[in-house]
Amino acid sequence: MDPADFRRNAHALVDWIATYLEQVERYPVLSRVAPGDVHSALPPQAPERGEAFAAVAADFERVLLPALTHWNHPGFMAYFASSASPAGILGEMLSAALNQQAMLWKTSPASTELEEVTLGWLRELIGLPAAFDGVIYDTASISTLHGLAAAREQAVPGASAHGLVRVERPLRAYASEHAHSSVDKALAALGLGLDALRKIPADADFRMRPDALASAIDEDVAGGARPVAVVATIGTTSTTSVDPVAAIAPICEQRGIWLHVDAAYAGVAAIVPELRPRFEGWERADSIVVNPHKWLFTPMDISVLYCRRMPTLRAAFSLVPEFLRTAEGDRGVRNLMDTGIQLGRRFRSLKLWMVLRDFGAEGLRDVMREHVRLARLFASWVDADANFERVAPVPFSVVCFRARGSDGASPADVDALNERLMERVNASGDVFLSHTRLDGRFVIRLAIGHYRTSEKHVARAWELLRQGVA
Ligand SMILES: Cc1ncc(COP(=O)(O)O)c(C=O)c1O
Repeated sequence: MDPADFRRNAHALVDWIATYLEQVERYPVLSRVAPGDVHSALPPQAPERGEAFAAVAADFERVLLPALTHWNHPGFMAYFASSASPAGILGEMLSAALNQQAMLWKTSPASTELEEVTLGWLRELIGLPAAFDGVIYDTASISTLHGLAAAREQAVPGASAHGLVRVERPLRAYASEHAHSSVDKALAALGLGLDALRKIPADADFRMRPDALASAIDEDVAGGARPVAVVATIGTTSTTSVDPVAAIAPICEQRGIWLHVDAAYAGVAAIVPELRPRFEGWERADSIVVNPHKWLFTPMDISVLYCRRMPTLRAAFSLVPEFLRTAEGDRGVRNLMDTGIQLGRRFRSLKLWMVLRDFGAEGLRDVMREHVRLARLFASWVDADANFERVAPVPFSVVCFRARGSDGASPADVDALNERLMERVNASGDVFLSHTRLDGRFVIRLAIGHYRTSEKHVARAWELLRQGVA
């Protein structure tokens, strides 16, 4: 592709993207293809001779477009939304063109320093003290892995050098029964093992019980175990419940245990002053994860780990072979390769910087406030309808609810009814909802988070749900 072709193709592609964003509601949110359709529509081998971009674009429209689940559709209300706002898309495009590789300050001063600046802005917006230093990873799962690696290094100094073979006491970590599975996976990867995780029971509102946490830790210590970390969640995956971090932090501080806060979804909502009380105590954590690619209108992927103990994180990962030694490194500049497993790093801060500047703090607050208002509005509709019941509080922008079913229906029948209802609603193509299980019961989740989701989309979801039980 020569420069003239690139210019022509790029203009055409940007036009296509602009139309896509304008008209995304023409497509069903959830793809309707069957497993294997994409595979069988494409040749089994790469082309021997280069092809015109127009031919590739035509195949994209023919084969791939129908197989997309449209995360950028405002009717996407499943899981936690991830929206690519226009500024974020431009940032991602530019970052691809620049192809920065920020392993060392020297290999990309702009990427290294913009990451520091942008994460400083975000830290101030969400009200964390300057003692927290930020680093960008791809996903919350990887941020949590790094936070817990630092916790392991603190509990077992030298673990990154010697492994865990010299550790005689069993290691333990703690999280609520509603914590995300990324915590389990991190412990598996760090050599503590899945069995090292004690799941602490939650209260009726799905929040970790601090009394149960303290008893579990003390019981383990009395039995000879070594606690490594507690993971508290602000905005759990199923219900967005908030673990009482202000009560959990002193338990960790008194016992010298690393506190990691998983605020992957909700953390960015601390930008909104009236939501700030839900974050009480998180400034006492050792590490915190927040994901701009969830509720901050920044395209996949970008997750931020804020850490109050960067030297411990570096101790877990800094390893400088001769070929990566630089004079700047010896003069104290930050080399991002020192704070993680990966060497090569994309220029992820560029899209976040562009999103923060495009929306402005006020713009971000307005959209998040509106999402919280819509969630409360939907919850009020559920509460007022005898055919439905709400099954969890609504601290942020997610509503958990279910159809009640007819009198005398068995729990299994009511679960099946709700599963069918959700599938019918999703088959409409207008909205996409997902589910969870709470206290063993099938529960539907309506999760608002796309920057263009409006009252019209939430009302459509409610209309489809009501038609489904009529
Ligand atoms: C609370 C919480 N933590 C972590 C994750 C994992 O996020 P990621 O896909 O960025 O790894 C999720 C995903 O939804 C989540 O809800």
